[in-house]
Amino acid sequence: MAQLVVALDFPTREEALALASRLRGLVPWCKVGMELFSLAGPPVLAELRTMGFRVFLDLKFYDIPHTVAQAVRAAAAGGADMLTLHTQGGERMCREACEAARSCARPPLLFGVTVLTSFGPGQMPGIAQEPGQFALELSDMAAAWGLDGVVCSGQEAASIKARNPRLACLCPGIRPASSAADDQCRIMTPAAAVAAGADYLVVGRPITRAADPVAAAQAIVQEMGS
Ligand code: C5P
Repeated sequence: MAQLVVALDFPTREEALALASRLRGLVPWCKVGMELFSLAGPPVLAELRTMGFRVFLDLKFYDIPHTVAQAVRAAAAGGADMLTLHTQGGERMCREACEAARSCARPPLLFGVTVLTSFGPGQMPGIAQEPGQFALELSDMAAAWGLDGVVCSGQEAASIKARNPRLACLCPGIRPASSAADDQCRIMTPAAAVAAGADYLVVGRPITRAADPVAAAQAIVQEMGS
């Protein structure tokens, strides 16, 4: 059964926690990304865990292998249940991150970012390949290097699952039929992403900017079939 992750992309800790408290019991995961983590730091992870959420720390690590491995340890100690790193960081970086995760008291799930859902054809700097095809190739590598899953568009989930059934697919770029695409490009509805095999749906603005965020989250959960 696919799980919903709400992206708490807010300019203040108070706004993020206020929405989280309204979504308790309805949404199992909260995503803390660059914006919220940069202003609120690790204490917000602990606060969300205390509220009963599982915490996805989406900082998209990309650095030399040692630095990323140490960052994985720090994030796990700070309360992250799941975190992201770039598959384009390469084999050594990803394998050392996996080793670091396994050494943690509470090992976090590691997801490799493939191609950002905001990229359309011809938009990736220096990469001529079509985004979906490139995401597929990076997913094969992520599986070989031991990552738990990949961040991909729902449009790629079915092909990724067919080639690597063990790999979990975490899909942003989710847009209910009536929502604006915003800056996302490779989008899918919640129902279509679930049908394609997505394991986690990451949803930000269709919930956070809705007139009634709880109703918006409820509608997505219903569409996901949970
Ligand atoms: O508001 P929206 O639903 O577009 O938010 C999607 C969330 O997923 C954002 O927090 C963004 O950082 C994240 N994300 C993404 N594409 C990726 C990885 C993460 O949109 N490849």
